[in-house]
Amino acid sequence: MSNNIIKHITLGGLDVSRIGLGAMSMSGYYNIGAGSDTESIRTIHRALELGVTHIDTAEIYGPFSNEELVGQAIKGRRDQVVIATKFGLVSHAGAGPGVIDSSPANIRVAVEGSLKRLGTDYIDLYYQHRVDPNTPIEDTVGVLADLVAEGKIRYIGLSEAGTETIRRAHTVHPIAALQTEYSLWSRDPEAELLPLLRELGIGFVPYSPLGHGFLTGEIKSPEQLSDDDWRKTNPRFTGENFQRNLRIVDEVKVVASQTGATLAQVALAWLLAQGDDIAPIPGTKRVARVEENTAADRVQLSTAQLERLNNLTPAAGERHDEGNMSVIDR
Ligand SMILES: NC(=O)c1ccc[n+]([C@@H]2O[C@H](COP(=O)([O-])OP(=O)(O)OC[C@H]3O[C@@H](n4cnc5c(N)ncnc54)[C@H](OP(=O)(O)O)[C@@H]3O)[C@@H](O)[C@H]2O)c1
Repeated sequence: MSNNIIKHITLGGLDVSRIGLGAMSMSGYYNIGAGSDTESIRTIHRALELGVTHIDTAEIYGPFSNEELVGQAIKGRRDQVVIATKFGLVSHAGAGPGVIDSSPANIRVAVEGSLKRLGTDYIDLYYQHRVDPNTPIEDTVGVLADLVAEGKIRYIGLSEAGTETIRRAHTVHPIAALQTEYSLWSRDPEAELLPLLRELGIGFVPYSPLGHGFLTGEIKSPEQLSDDDWRKTNPRFTGENFQRNLRIVDEVKVVASQTGATLAQVALAWLLAQGDDIAPIPGTKRVARVEENTAADRVQLSTAQLERLNNLTPAAGERHDEGNMSVIDR
């Protein structure tokens, strides 16, 4: 099958299919229904077959096992894939996973581990996962620029960075992509972030473009979430907020039935309509869903439908719990 079925865009010079695949949920986090490594690998293979080139993972996913899984899946197919991975949420100086550390020494250790697990000698897009308040961004980007010069990484990305940090980082070395949450129910990037990225020529990678699955309409009650499901403590999935947010799903459903598309496809098509510098990375560990999500590339929303989606009922609840909110937008 042709490898160019999905439209491509560039993220600060890096060519990617404009719909990618987030691999995080292949290693836990969201636990509705069973998955398996076999199905996850089949999902990655199916994505590549459908023309997806952009696969997103991170050192902290698992931790470590998600990169290993992606590495296993892309074996023998390296040239078809743009691998994006992230460092900075594992401290290799002893503190371990969950500790923010973007010091140059930590990045040096992290990159070698990621390369090994991914089974490659270069990473296409290497992101800082969260800004480290203890390391000046100039020092972090400085070592990343060295890694570019050494051929270990091709492009540099930031995730959940604030606008000042992005400006400072970009003066040290061009930043290719900024990754943060953006979707029908998380519109914050529109105010300041997107205009800045456009000013600087930085691409935008929306994570959780399906609202962690909520916007697909498949999650109808908080009881569906097992105790170890990450969403169990997310304010939008808890208490009254959950019930209130179901209204958003109903509103998306109206547009979906008008277009003959699924809710997930409408959520993705709306994101794609926001600009040709935007490349969402919907996450799934299932073949059928990667087929569904990828087909959103061909869903056209009318001006009236886009307008309707622009005016959905705002989400009830912050997009992260307190702990996670405290480490974003710095
Ligand atoms: N930079 C960051 O800090 C950050 C944070 C979060 C995520 N990310 C990245 O962004 C990627 C995507 O975000 P995400 O996984 O949090 O959220 P998402 O893409 O909004 O939603 C993923 C969830 O939706 C379900 N799903 C996917 N397609 C579906 C469909 N067509 N119908 C019904 N349900 C569907 C998935 O379940 P199944 O897996 O069971 O199919 C999974 O539970 C991640 O994989 C990760 O690579 C980055």
